[in-house]
Amino acid sequence: MIGGGYVGLVSGACFAEFGNDVAVVEADPAKLAALQEGRIPIFEPGLDRLVTENVAAGRLSFGSDIAAAVADAEAVFIAVGTPSRRGDGHADLSYVYAAAEQVARALRGYTVIVTKSTVPVGTGRRIAQIVRDTRPDLEFDVASNPEFLREGSAIGDFMRPDRVVIGTESERAREVMRRLYRPLFLIEAPILFTGLETAELTKYAANSFLAMKITFINEIADLCERVGADVHDVARGIGLDGRIGRKFLHPGPGFGGSCFPKDTLALVRIAQDAGAAARLVETVVAVNDARKAGMAMRVIAACGGNIRGRTIAVLGLTFKPETDDMRDSPSIPIVARLVEDGATVRAFDPEGTEQARPLLPGAVQYCQDAIDAATGADALVVVTEWNEFRNLAPAKLRAAMRGNVVVDLRNVYDPVAMRAEGFVYHSIGRPS
Ligand code: UGA
Repeated sequence: MIGGGYVGLVSGACFAEFGNDVAVVEADPAKLAALQEGRIPIFEPGLDRLVTENVAAGRLSFGSDIAAAVADAEAVFIAVGTPSRRGDGHADLSYVYAAAEQVARALRGYTVIVTKSTVPVGTGRRIAQIVRDTRPDLEFDVASNPEFLREGSAIGDFMRPDRVVIGTESERAREVMRRLYRPLFLIEAPILFTGLETAELTKYAANSFLAMKITFINEIADLCERVGADVHDVARGIGLDGRIGRKFLHPGPGFGGSCFPKDTLALVRIAQDAGAAARLVETVVAVNDARKAGMAMRVIAACGGNIRGRTIAVLGLTFKPETDDMRDSPSIPIVARLVEDGATVRAFDPEGTEQARPLLPGAVQYCQDAIDAATGADALVVVTEWNEFRNLAPAKLRAAMRGNVVVDLRNVYDPVAMRAEGFVYHSIGRPS
């Protein structure tokens, strides 16, 4: 497994749990040292235990030497980062191609070279070319095996997937992949064998569709506010239609994270390069960016249009609960604007504080817990729906705060209970 980031580490640990021998290669010395000492550099429920147990069982190891790790491997997964390239939104594939070349040099016999990172259509074929150019003598196949796991429930998603997609043109490679995923055949998880380009595109299409679903319900939520409808009932009303489905219809401040923003943008670029239109997804990108940028205005409006000198508590900073990931989190533009407009921001996040510090204004005060953040605040904003915020007693919040404005961007509270407690309560897409 080349790359010990989110995807590499989770997939590596899970493949080891399936009974395979896995060597994870990590280039960042600090990350590698942490892994070798049994410290997991990311927060992901269950991952710690899974890594420890598989290391103890001798099935999982960490190192920095690609040659040593891949020499006798049956399959090599490339799971290095593919950040958005500055300027043009294309995925930056330099790490992927560099890894492919290093792997090619070190291989000793037939191997399947698999991309697990999300890579643009055509990357698999380009990797095959690189490997052929580097090692004309080598017997190998390439495959695309995109990962569909979610942060926060990554292990469950890997172990009990809705489906596994494997793109390859070789029966020999399919056989290797079948062996690696054997336990999933036993639980009858759908395993889809496709062509290389099809698998690559499926990943972008899946993420773009989910991003579109969220953007759709966000737009309906705004409409609900205008006409006095309740977005949760609308979501249920449409979601019970099996063709639509109930999931991913929860309104909020706009999607963030390391995947949807990057992958929607990349799909648009892929389409442009191929001379095709991706107007729907292009619109999703624009609408979501505008939504995140505009969310602070809701808070400012709830505070009467001026927040200079006010104290605002912000609950939740990460892009979603159960992660410490701050990438493209809606909290970034929200907090920046609140501080810029003269508010004192008291923030609390259960896991993301350290990741948040470099991304948020220096003036932000980081608090011990939700009640600490709310203490003396004129207004309170829920940005991320951590469970511990759902369970806060409204009376306790009310007693801690100086003011009574609550802007709940995740709809975690019951409007009736909040209003009964004396709050001026605003949420997303519900009648006020
Ligand atoms: C997403 C996909 O869900 C995974 O299937 C995929 O494998 C992954 O990207 C990836 O490409 O690696 P992830 O980014 O971890 O996973 O998180 P999600 O749970 O999908 O949430 C993404 C964003 O959408 C969050 O900001 C979340 O708050 C938002 N969201 C999600 C909503 O606003 N409403 C919803 O109903 C669902």
